[in-house]
Amino acid sequence: MWAELLARIYEKELHVAARSEDKIPYTAKDGVFDDHTFEIDWWTNGFYAGLLWQLYGFRPDPLLSSLASAIEQKLDAGFLHAAGMDHDSGFKWLLTANASRILTGASASQNRLLLAANDLAGRFNLAGGFLRAWNDGGDGSKAGVAIIDCMMNLPLLYLASTLTRDPRYREIAVRHATTAAKHFVREDGSCRHIAVFDPATGEFLREEGGQGMGVGSAWTRGQGWAIYGFTLSYLHTGREEFLAAAERVASFFLTHIPKTGLLPVDFLQPYGCDWEDDSAAAIAACGLLELKRATGNKRYADAAEELLAVLAKERCDLASSRDPLLTHCSAAYHDGQHNFALIYGDYFFVEAILKLLHKETFLW
Ligand code: GLY
Repeated sequence: MWAELLARIYEKELHVAARSEDKIPYTAKDGVFDDHTFEIDWWTNGFYAGLLWQLYGFRPDPLLSSLASAIEQKLDAGFLHAAGMDHDSGFKWLLTANASRILTGASASQNRLLLAANDLAGRFNLAGGFLRAWNDGGDGSKAGVAIIDCMMNLPLLYLASTLTRDPRYREIAVRHATTAAKHFVREDGSCRHIAVFDPATGEFLREEGGQGMGVGSAWTRGQGWAIYGFTLSYLHTGREEFLAAAERVASFFLTHIPKTGLLPVDFLQPYGCDWEDDSAAAIAACGLLELKRATGNKRYADAAEELLAVLAKERCDLASSRDPLLTHCSAAYHDGQHNFALIYGDYFFVEAILKLLHKETFLW
């Protein structure tokens, strides 16, 4: 089943790539990808290139690599815009520069990775032991803000230590992950989206609701970032406390999946609300498959496969005439729009299927 689905996705994506030249998609309108090039430092601008590279790694086609390389080069403009260089450098450059480094050996790609890693390391708050998430135009209002999504950016730091044989980057990643395990993961295993610290003393001040329903709720994509992100930190460091954090969040996650197998935007959203997030399911599936690799516990792989099977059956658009794959993603609970296409949903869906088939290019 999975090999056949991958073959159909590959065929579709070749058609999509042929008509998507010059685009950096974020979402789609009437089945046609938009182009987010106008905001070159947007956090999702690496995902389409990542998807192209994953498919190229599976079956090389020069169309896939040329489009992905063009996106990587466009992202260079971000290095000249300090206000746009936030903590999402991992999402942006692991899926572009790291992919081309691995698949083509391009030296320019390694250069980009080191520039991005140096910038990310510069966001480390020494007093609080966390990486600052967002910028604030210089008023300091976001200086103490960290978000769970950042766990996915830490592999850029682990990679930088490997590439330079300099432990500084790894140490920063370990310290951020340690702070996150302490202040994001709640007693019941659910995970906060935003933690606010005093940027001068490092004291934990409060949580904020962020892209979930509110304070105390359980934003599904955030749970996915935590499962996958803590597992990645475990795989890079071997530190048991990160594996324990991943398993605690996974345990909460597995007991909250609805009977339909389709994920809401927030596990605590009101009964009857039909807002979904396919991207959360795809991200969590990737994390659960890696957690299975780390622990040997088949339960995680079974849950991942069930999530992916529901997405494949109910939410995957294989028509070559329409650009996106997944149909029901949501960027945030309080946004006006829900149940639409988002490029990172497609990226993680394809990554997860490749993982199942042992055909993934591991970019994290
Ligand atoms: N990293 C932002 C998000 O998950 O929407």
